[in-house]
Amino acid sequence: MNHFEYIDGVLHAEGVSIPEMADKVGTPFFCYSTATLERHYKVYADAFEGLDATVCFAVKANSNQAVLKTLGNLGAGADVVSVGEMRRALRAGIDPAKIIFSGVGKADAEMREALEADIAQINVESIPELVELNRVAIEMGKKARIALRINPHVDAKTHEKIATGKAENKFGIDWTRAIEVYRDAAAMDGIEVTGIAMHIGSQLTDLTPFREAFTRLAGLVEQLRSEGIHIRNLDLGGGLGIAYQGETPPLPDAYGQMVRETVGHLGCHITLEPGRLIAGNAGIMVSRVMYIKDGEAKRFVILDAAMNDLIRPTLYSAYHEIIPVEEQGEEDVQATVDVVGPVCETGDTFGKDRKLPDDLKAGDLVAVMSAGAYGAVMSSTYNTRALTPEVLVKGNNFAIVRPRQEIDQLINMDQIPAWLGNE
Ligand code: LLP
Repeated sequence: MNHFEYIDGVLHAEGVSIPEMADKVGTPFFCYSTATLERHYKVYADAFEGLDATVCFAVKANSNQAVLKTLGNLGAGADVVSVGEMRRALRAGIDPAKIIFSGVGKADAEMREALEADIAQINVESIPELVELNRVAIEMGKKARIALRINPHVDAKTHEKIATGKAENKFGIDWTRAIEVYRDAAAMDGIEVTGIAMHIGSQLTDLTPFREAFTRLAGLVEQLRSEGIHIRNLDLGGGLGIAYQGETPPLPDAYGQMVRETVGHLGCHITLEPGRLIAGNAGIMVSRVMYIKDGEAKRFVILDAAMNDLIRPTLYSAYHEIIPVEEQGEEDVQATVDVVGPVCETGDTFGKDRKLPDDLKAGDLVAVMSAGAYGAVMSSTYNTRALTPEVLVKGNNFAIVRPRQEIDQLINMDQIPAWLGNE
């Protein structure tokens, strides 16, 4: 459920009309809905009521300060994967005691800053990383609270680029070796073992792989306990999918129930790291039609947004619904079109064979739906296109939460070496 709806035939974000924002902000832009973010957070958090659980929003999905602050105000913590994300979470006012640092490889400087900030936990993904963290912590006279991220060798049955729990994936420590690595960790002076972490993949639309992985995790926790290694935090990662194209992923409640059934008896604190589920359908990308090109084989709708703004369609063959901002009547004629961007690559295509109004014309607005997660955060300046602005709506108000970057700002980052002259 989201708050992007037609009101009197015009698409609105909550109480604000999209054309009104487009006039003020220019296109393209990302638009987020506060009510949707809040609703998703609450529905998800409520699914764990009665359990000792913290919802740490996966900052990688949407790291805008305004989004983080919106969620932080509701009590969300943060799952971060770089020192940059950690600083964003801290600056948005998120309590360090609710920040988890995940990721396959952390640099010394990142470990130092995380220890300095005294965040809740660092999730370690390999033995060399554990050894390094131990060294850094001892040097700083600290003990690093850690979880080991365990790879349960479970197929999440999602897109190959976002599956993380199989033996051939680069993530975590193989579950078959977990006990020995925990033994090593427990003996390290700079390490305090607090938890165990798992994240098997993203955009999962079935509970079965989660159930399999968490059951394996529960078994490990019991085995560790019998060895005197006490795990008090279970970090179950994120990954619950959303509907992009009519999928019917399990509801948070069913997910919560499965969590209770698989690990509820362990009496541990539980950390959850949802990203997409909170932000995905809380954002859209608004773009203006630049040209309609009737080719021999196809009609192309050429937008002013491109793959640099939203890379998911070309990177993962991801489907994003594309709708006209002016509502189409039931009687109106539809055309089958390819919706593309202006970047010089065939891959710069947002959707193939889509139905859009036959009379859609240059200057009209369209909305690319479900762009709130892994949208703006993955954008680039390819083709020297400035980063797209972001707007947050709340009720009848909206605010620009990241202004449009100036093209000159971008060019000015380059430096010409002396030998080329700097005229
Ligand atoms: N925790 C960890 C350790 C993760 O690696 C991820 C996502 C999450 C939590 C959040 O997962 P979510 O709830 O959002 O599924 N760029 C890709 C998605 C990459 C996900 C990477 N890890 C996309 O656009 O589909």
